[in-house]
Amino acid sequence: MDMMTQLSVRIEESMHRLWPDREGLPGKDEIRGFLEVPPNSTLGDYAFPCFRLSRALRMAPPMIAEALSGDWNHFDLAEAKAVSGYVNFFLNRENFARRTLETILAQGEEYGSSREGMGKTICLDYSSINIAKRFHIGHLSTTMIGNSLKRIYSFLGYQTVGINHLGDWGTQFGKMICAYKKWGSREEVEKGGVNELTRLYVRFHEEAEKDPALEDEGRAWFRRIEEGDAEALEIFNWFKELTLRDTARVYELLGVTFDSYAGESFYNDKMDRVIEELREKNLLTVSEGATIVDLEEDGMPPCLILKKDGATLYATRDLAAAIYRQETYHFAKCLYVVAYQQDLHFRQVFRVLEKMGYAWAKDCVHVSFGMVSYEGEALATRKGNVVFLEDLLQQAVDKARSIIEEKTPDLENKEEVSRQVGIGAVIYADLSNSRIKDMDFHWDRALNFDGESGPYVQYTHARCCSVLRKAGDTDWNEPADYGALTDDEAQALLLLLSRFPDVIREAADRYEPSMITRAVTDIAQAYNKFYYEHRILDENSGVTMARLMLTRAARDTIRTGLSLIGVEAPERM
Ligand code: ARG
Repeated sequence: MDMMTQLSVRIEESMHRLWPDREGLPGKDEIRGFLEVPPNSTLGDYAFPCFRLSRALRMAPPMIAEALSGDWNHFDLAEAKAVSGYVNFFLNRENFARRTLETILAQGEEYGSSREGMGKTICLDYSSINIAKRFHIGHLSTTMIGNSLKRIYSFLGYQTVGINHLGDWGTQFGKMICAYKKWGSREEVEKGGVNELTRLYVRFHEEAEKDPALEDEGRAWFRRIEEGDAEALEIFNWFKELTLRDTARVYELLGVTFDSYAGESFYNDKMDRVIEELREKNLLTVSEGATIVDLEEDGMPPCLILKKDGATLYATRDLAAAIYRQETYHFAKCLYVVAYQQDLHFRQVFRVLEKMGYAWAKDCVHVSFGMVSYEGEALATRKGNVVFLEDLLQQAVDKARSIIEEKTPDLENKEEVSRQVGIGAVIYADLSNSRIKDMDFHWDRALNFDGESGPYVQYTHARCCSVLRKAGDTDWNEPADYGALTDDEAQALLLLLSRFPDVIREAADRYEPSMITRAVTDIAQAYNKFYYEHRILDENSGVTMARLMLTRAARDTIRTGLSLIGVEAPERM
């Protein structure tokens, strides 16, 4: 609990002790909102304005302040003084340092984790790539935000199910098979993978301009897939395998995993009952031949369920998927990490689920995010301005390697560290803005070891490791002099460390990994300030011990924070 929360809890207790039968007194959360940071530190570190209670208590603020401060014992973290209607709190810096470090060091890697999610499951739909398309950087955010949220929720004790809802259904696959049969060969496709499939697909469109009959052939092949024709399915599944093999390399580099690859085609045999159910519940209307759920009263265009020819749609599959996930996993929440362009789609799907009477529809959340551009240029696939993720990651590793060659040529396992730093830089850059903001990727920013970047935070972690190594075999049972941690730099760092568990919870509540990126960056900056101002290995062993403990707490917290955003923390770099 951070200091303001602890104070609020304590103030609430005091109020109930002093005025047990008063009604309308604020609870701890409201009290927390009332707490102020005085403009001038001679007035304390925090202040509680008592006029906030005067109506409920029918008392003048100065009297309330006197009563509250008179009740302020047994709390060794702050002293309370009543000053003209305020209770001013003065932190006991030494006790605060002791309390914070004892907590963090006792919990180690568990610090910030909790059991609040025990027995609850969170489904996360992220990455959700499309078959036979290359992984480009437009898919980075969904992949990394989803991966991070999965880690955050697991850390809070939830069971998590990571789902890659593959885009593996649609007429384009019929066209691709048609193109393959006409102009492709097994060897070429095996060798070229997704690139070769893309080439065939492009060729199909070129040829179809000249010979429109090809479109019919493409459709016929798709129908064969739908009907379960052995040859069509064999080729289609092979295309799927090839794509997954290609993307597996990217996932491996990024350290991203999934529990399920049930994508669009998985729901082929699960839609009939949904359509039947929609019909029974009188939700279907036929409009211009298509079957829809009218959403006019909800201020939305209709949700398309079946096309004129009876084919199902993206939304139909998402309805079936949501129901399947609820029945299979009994999720407490199902998160869809998908770009904001699909906002309407998800509002429609969730609304239809609600109309079907599923109370859990409210537990489906579209976690949307902004666009990615690269060095100031938008990623328009049509213009051919695509940056493939694998190339970007490879470049990142190469660039990190050359920086390491320059800065620390003697480093052991340079290859491993280059990978951790390069990939870390890309992930950090992706998760450093609030997700809904558009993200512009710039190499100089991502790889700047001195600015706010992944490498900067990793470097600080490595610095903590190096300090601890230099200290040699530390006996952590030696007494520490916490009085050595009352300076502003140590206190600023301690404050950030003490807030870390709250940050994790808030990041989970808001589906916002960037809050963790922010927190680890602040901690790294605060540690570096502390490091430059104070000598850690001091003549005095009590002082050394206290500063080493602070270093260890910073190291552990940074490492946990980085791992929650999916970034590795090398010990040397
Ligand atoms: N494959 C889709 C795309 O790339 C994203 C799918 C998102 N998940 C879902 N359940 N609709 O745009």
